[in-house]
Amino acid sequence: MTNSEKISEAWWKETIVYQIYPRSFQDSNGDGIGDLRGIINRLDYISDLGVETLWLNPIFASPNDDNGYDISDYRKIMDEFGSMADFEELVEQCKNRNLRIILDLVLNHSSDEHYWFKEAQKSPESPYRDYYYWRKPNPDGTPPNNWVSYFAPSTWAYDENSNEYYLHIFSPKQPDLNWENPKVRQEIYDIIHYWMEKGVDGFRLDAFILISKHPDLLDIDEESLKHEASRFFGNGPRLHEFLHEMNREVISKYDMMTVGEGAGITAEEASLFVGENRKELHMIYHFDHMSLDRESGQFFKPKKFDLRDFKKIISDWDKCVLEGGWNAVFLGNHDFPRMLSRFGNDGIYRKESAKLLGMLLLTQRGTPFMFSGDEIGMTNVPWETLDKYRDIHVFDGYEKYIKGGGEGKEFLQNLKHTARDNARTPMQWDLSEYAGFSINEPWIDVNPNFEKINVEESLKDPHSILNFYKTLINIRKNNPSLIYGEYDDLFPDHPTLFVYARSRKEEVYLIILNFDDKGRHINLGPRIAKAKKCILSNYENPPILLEEKWWVRPWEAGLFYSTSL
Ligand code: GLC
Ligand code: CA
Repeated sequence: MTNSEKISEAWWKETIVYQIYPRSFQDSNGDGIGDLRGIINRLDYISDLGVETLWLNPIFASPNDDNGYDISDYRKIMDEFGSMADFEELVEQCKNRNLRIILDLVLNHSSDEHYWFKEAQKSPESPYRDYYYWRKPNPDGTPPNNWVSYFAPSTWAYDENSNEYYLHIFSPKQPDLNWENPKVRQEIYDIIHYWMEKGVDGFRLDAFILISKHPDLLDIDEESLKHEASRFFGNGPRLHEFLHEMNREVISKYDMMTVGEGAGITAEEASLFVGENRKELHMIYHFDHMSLDRESGQFFKPKKFDLRDFKKIISDWDKCVLEGGWNAVFLGNHDFPRMLSRFGNDGIYRKESAKLLGMLLLTQRGTPFMFSGDEIGMTNVPWETLDKYRDIHVFDGYEKYIKGGGEGKEFLQNLKHTARDNARTPMQWDLSEYAGFSINEPWIDVNPNFEKINVEESLKDPHSILNFYKTLINIRKNNPSLIYGEYDDLFPDHPTLFVYARSRKEEVYLIILNFDDKGRHINLGPRIAKAKKCILSNYENPPILLEEKWWVRPWEAGLFYSTSL
């Protein structure tokens, strides 16, 4: 038996996930903020696309210091997003369309406005004190260690009342929960139960690697702090124990899916988290390819990436499947700039390269996670001033950049390639004033290119990116070889061509992607040249592989079928 036949089948391996950033998807009541009713109103669009699972970024009560990733009540819907009745309707309407929903579980931190934290802050004797990390200052009054927060200069905020610091790896309004305390763990399991009973199908686990910390919370050496801090903040001795417990207590009790946000996890250790026999998570999405175009550890310093490194990462992670695990595949989400502007060409080859990236995403071995807007080829924003941005990460990044000797002007240029807000602009639905997202000014500006790039136009054009996605999704869903089939990178050393095979039993799919503004001859060799039948191409006249030599056009993407290679 080949490896692909050994893989156990499951709905969450076969599903295609569509991620919605609710704040930016569709506003239904004119306050400029997307909401649940807006999503309900667009469910026909989503189900038409062919995707089968929705992942919603946090929809819970929140003061929105980090757009919902600071939760003040895990059992309440955020006021701006609507009510519990809206949520229940959303679940029902999704069920009617065979759409599943997964929610975002922020389990490493709460909001400082959560009841637990407010109680904890009252006194060191509070029964909630130990829900969080509190430490005495150093003798000179400085914070307990040298950790630098993702959203602030230090991970420690001083509390005058008790003369202690509390830990916050993200913003001071996102205090870290203390998972060493069994009561905290139980609270989180109860929350999962609560939403599962409401009819959701699973969770994406936010920053889960951080839940176990080294008990001494020691200083981190400068180099590690710069390059791979998340591994040192978290990845602690009890990480697997906690995940295993969560699996035993809740996950195993439902037919659900869990996908962990695996920043800092390496391909070598992936199967420890997602190996079937490990009983921890179903899959994680890693960040290896998300740091390729950044200077090491510097989110706001872009650099050119090398396709060879990208391909190697994919092959390395595929080994996780061979070890009994499963992967999540994504090219962008709400934490990164638009995938098209990043890995494609958002200028003259916008359409071709958006389709190429879609083909890459949907022909990999692993559950594809699409991010809304990518299916119409949305791009980064060309903003020139800081006041356009909304993300706390940008403002903190700016201060750190200037403090580190960088220039404001340079930082602003870098934002166009790096800022998370690039992916958070409103969904571009039509040609009306705010792109059909809202009837009033949105919380964040619409990308000015909405007149060219929007759903309405895309639906009309048979050759649009959107229609290409629909075809691709349909092909993916109906071909187990593309889901489970073995993955082989056929030209790992080629700097601009990405050619791989997905095979299962007698069936082979060949995917040829040209990551280049230039066309070129390629010599496929006699093996590959056998794959003559082109199933899908991103050019209007599909290519024919007549001979071993083939002329591949700029950003050309072709999906071929063969009965053997
Ligand atoms: C995750 C989220 C990100 C958020 C952070 C803190 O990385 O995806 O958006 O800012 O966690 O919760
Ligand atoms: Ca609204």
